[in-house]
Amino acid sequence: MNILLLGSGGREHALAWKIRQSSLCEALYIAPGNAGTLKEGTNVGLNMLDFALVGDFCRDKNIQMVVVGPEEPLVKGIADYLRSRKDLPGIMVIGPDKAGARLEGSKDFAKHFMMKYKIPTAAYKTFTPEEYEAGVQFLRSLKPPYVIKADGLAAGKGVSVLHDLKEAEQELEQMLSGKFGEASNRVVVEEFLKGIELSVFVVTDGTTYRLLPEAKDYKRAGEGDTGQNTGGMGAVSPVPFADKVFMKKVEERIIIPTILGLKEEGIRYQGFIFFGLMNVDGNPYVIEYNVRLGDPESEAILPRLENDIVRLFEAMATGKLREETIRISSDVVATVMLVSGGYPGVYRKGFEISGLDEVRGSMVFHAGTAMLNGKVVTSGGRVLAVSSSGRTMEEALEMSYANARSISFEGMYYRRDIGFDLK
Ligand code: AMP
Ligand code: GLY
Repeated sequence: MNILLLGSGGREHALAWKIRQSSLCEALYIAPGNAGTLKEGTNVGLNMLDFALVGDFCRDKNIQMVVVGPEEPLVKGIADYLRSRKDLPGIMVIGPDKAGARLEGSKDFAKHFMMKYKIPTAAYKTFTPEEYEAGVQFLRSLKPPYVIKADGLAAGKGVSVLHDLKEAEQELEQMLSGKFGEASNRVVVEEFLKGIELSVFVVTDGTTYRLLPEAKDYKRAGEGDTGQNTGGMGAVSPVPFADKVFMKKVEERIIIPTILGLKEEGIRYQGFIFFGLMNVDGNPYVIEYNVRLGDPESEAILPRLENDIVRLFEAMATGKLREETIRISSDVVATVMLVSGGYPGVYRKGFEISGLDEVRGSMVFHAGTAMLNGKVVTSGGRVLAVSSSGRTMEEALEMSYANARSISFEGMYYRRDIGFDLK
């Protein structure tokens, strides 16, 4: 089958690498892709938000399956669009319709949904610009730190966790005055949950779900979880505290009610659900839903998945997931992200990357790279994800760090303590 994968990050390189291994995959196109996905298929310079263009490409190249990497096209309705095109009969889209993508696209919707289906999450209230005063009253009724979230997508910057009440009131005012444009026309204020985070992933056909490996993401730029929030500086899978007892709670209290709730709402959901969870004294709470895989989590979980991923996708898109069993390797995978100097703030691009040919024993997934005159150069903040398997986390980390040391580009840095809290 001919497959189109949308996206350009480390998640998409890992997906492309996994899709390429399937005997069902004939041609793989990646739009727009990066210097790493070039090795797995054909990169195409398509704007994934131009749905008509994507649809025409699918028609012209006889694409049977579209795998959507990032959330933005899903929130904007690419799955509905492609499924409704008369000249693309039976096209399989991995990713929910617009209605389902609201789980990530609207925090207010997600919170409402969790309340309605009794899914554990932080207590909250939503405010509009007219309700600023009520928002201040609500903030004053909470204990610090204060968690303030723009309702809509804000390029990963829409969440503020503040310790000072005055700063929290200011942040609420700025968000409600349009700090993130339409995305902060509504603002969710919620209770702070204290615990340790993990990322849980399922695939679903709307009725049946299957658990993928879980992972822990390291979001802060600095060692010891200090410094600015980033897209993710590394990941480890599996997560030791996600044992049978904990995961049973996750399934019973969170995953099953979510799948049933979507059905109850009449939402057809064929895709990934990423549960951003907080483990609070052994009990899981939902911090957020995402309607896609995580990055860098994908680079740690996909190497552990032993199934043919295209077969799994086909089962999701045709309502036959109940016939599939997930097989997961017992190996540990540790991912270290090599990033540009200055990231997550201002950074420069276009630096040549050296040492890629010296890598032995790790997989290097490209995140922000491009091919320029036959050379691989940096083109983003997060540049490369170095993933290794091992029998233990220590073994996997040692291999990733050994290979990270052999790669270099101007300004490159990485966290040297991935997995530190799990040891
Ligand atoms: P997000 O940008 O939605 O991924 O959220 C950023 C981060 O804010 C999360 O990964 C958590 O670390 C933190 N966060 C969000 N909501 C809460 C909460 N209710 N309690 C504690 N931390 C939170
Ligand atoms: N690593 C977190 C995310 O992909 O949202």
